[in-house]
Order: sequence, then structure tokens, then C-alpha cells
Amino acid sequence: MATKRFPGFIDVHVHLREPGATQKEDFYTGSRAAIAGGVTFVIDMPNNPTPTVSIERLDEKVALAKKAICDIGFHYGTNGKNADTFAEAASRPEVFGLKLYCNHTTGEMLIEDPKLLETVFAAWPPGKPILVHAEGPQLDMAIALADKHGQRLHVCHITQASEVEAVRKAKAAGRSVTAGVCPHHLFMTEKDREEKKGYATMKPPLGTLEDQAALWAGLVDGTVDIVETDHAPHTKEEKEKDPPAFGVPGLETSLGLMLKAVADGSITEERVVEAMHTLPRKIFNIPEQPDTYVELDPDAPYTAGKDGYESKCGWSPFTGWELYGKPMKVVLRGKTLLEDGKIIA
Ligand code: DOR
Ligand code: ZN
Repeated sequence: MATKRFPGFIDVHVHLREPGATQKEDFYTGSRAAIAGGVTFVIDMPNNPTPTVSIERLDEKVALAKKAICDIGFHYGTNGKNADTFAEAASRPEVFGLKLYCNHTTGEMLIEDPKLLETVFAAWPPGKPILVHAEGPQLDMAIALADKHGQRLHVCHITQASEVEAVRKAKAAGRSVTAGVCPHHLFMTEKDREEKKGYATMKPPLGTLEDQAALWAGLVDGTVDIVETDHAPHTKEEKEKDPPAFGVPGLETSLGLMLKAVADGSITEERVVEAMHTLPRKIFNIPEQPDTYVELDPDAPYTAGKDGYESKCGWSPFTGWELYGKPMKVVLRGKTLLEDGKIIA
């Protein structure tokens, strides 16, 4: 066993809940969770109670996020009626993409009307990707619209075997499509909901064993480009309600789960670094973070949640699991933020 140095990991899909839902998380606690998990750059999603669909809301978020201890970017949001703000939003260096919800989830940003969807794909200035929450038939529609309007499409939290196939086909046809998979879909299936109930409830929901196998095959062969957590904290109370809130936290367990998969021989360490650093950086054009690294021993097992969590929600569906490679030191642009496995920032 030996400590190794890795680049700072990147998570392009997190919900840090500020402003509007800081009972679940805020930029300070969410960024501490990132650093604890070896993640030095996150991109925050726009589905706040008051969605990030105007320049005013965007500026407010950028200001609030100054308290984050990791680097942070933002995806702009759309309700289909804010196309007049796209050029300004896309020109901001803090903005890395446009998030579009084609299926129901937490928040009020669902667009179902095909005409409105077309308006969005036509109006976003091509360059920065359009990220879609699109399941099943909605995914086919998004792939077609992106192609028609010359947009780069990123398919978030791909879940079903048929969706992996749709992305494989689109890539083979030369379409500008990338896809991300979440650790919860890689490591759990619908069976886990029987025991974990609300704590294993999210959108898109956990799939079948067949879906899970297709996700692993797609991640290993590169059809699925990256790992993104969809870190979506909710309070325990909100998860124990009927129906429970959708979403699970992921920042503090994603790297440990992926290194567990390396230890099991399911994927190579090189591919994990590519899926959690190199490709997210390339797809979203994230600036280099000089003098930034994570030190850990990829062969060292540890128990998830043994010392609690940094995330304000204070739980994880993976508590008690044996993970690998707990970050022991994290340095961000020359500043040590985590030492001996503890945040010192
Ligand atoms: O489970 C989910 N939770 N899926 C999403 O797409 C949104 C997220 C949230 O914000 O809670
Ligand atoms: Zn999400």
C-alpha cells in the first residue's frame, strides 16, 4: 500500500441548494463535502426554489458562492421563456452549460412542450453544452434537436440500458453527444429501494440489474464519458416523508466507490481518472487548476460514514460500505484544505 498523487477531481453535476433550500445544504457545507471527497471543482445546478433563469439570479448565486472552499461553476437554467438572456448567460466565465429538464424532478423547470424545447435549442449560443435530464423518448428527441441546431449535448445521469444504446448509436453517427453516469446507478439497483426506501429514491430512479450491467459496459468502453454525482442532498425528514424527496448526496462517496470498483477489477484506475478529471475538464472547458492535487492510497479500504459527513444532510445511501482510497491530503491552488483526512480550511 502506498500513497499516490492524483489531480483534483471534478464533479459537473451538484445541487448545493443555495439560495432557497439551505436546510439541505449550502455553498460552504457542500464545498466541504466536495473537498472531503477529493473533488476540487464542482458545477452547481439551477433548480433552486427560485430557479437560476435570469442574470439577476445568476449574479446572486455567484456572490453567495464566494463562501465555497472549492472552485465552483454554474449551469444556467431555462423554463423556455428566458431565451433573451441566453447570450449574456453564455458569455459569463462562471457559466459552463445550460441545464434543461425534459422530465419531472425537484424544482419547477420542466419543459414538455416540443415547441418550447425547439426554441431553447435554437436560441442557446452554440459552444457551451446543453445538459439534459431526458429519459427514454425524451432522450431521442433531445439528441435530434441538438443535431438540428448544432448544439453539443450532454446527457445527465444516464440510467437505462436502452439510453446507453441510444448514446452509442448517436456517437457512431457522429453526433456531438456525451453522457454521464452517477455512482448510485452504478452501485445500486431497484432492489435497494425495498430496504433503503426514501434513502434510495431519486430521479431518474434506480434501474434493473440489466441496466446496471449496461452502464458499467458503457463506462468502460467510453460510450458513457464521465462520472457525475447528481449530489442532491435532502434532510432525513424529507426522505422519510411519503412520498420522499428525490435525490441522494454523492460528493463524499463517489471517488471511494469508483476506487472500490478498481480494487474489484471492474474498471482501471486510468479510466476513473479520465472519467472524473480529464474528460469533465475537456467537455465543459474547465480551466486548469494549477498546484492542485489529491493524495490517497487507492488500495486502502475504509468504511463510508464512519466519521460522519461534511454534507449538511448528514447521511448517505452508502453508509457502512467498504470504500477505497479516502483522500488524506487535498491541495487547491497551493493551499492545503485537507490534511490527514481532515478538513483544515
Ligand atoms: O433525484 C434528483 N434530485 N434528481 C434530479 O434531477 C434533481 C435532484 C434534486 O435537485 O433534488
Ligand atoms: Zn441533478
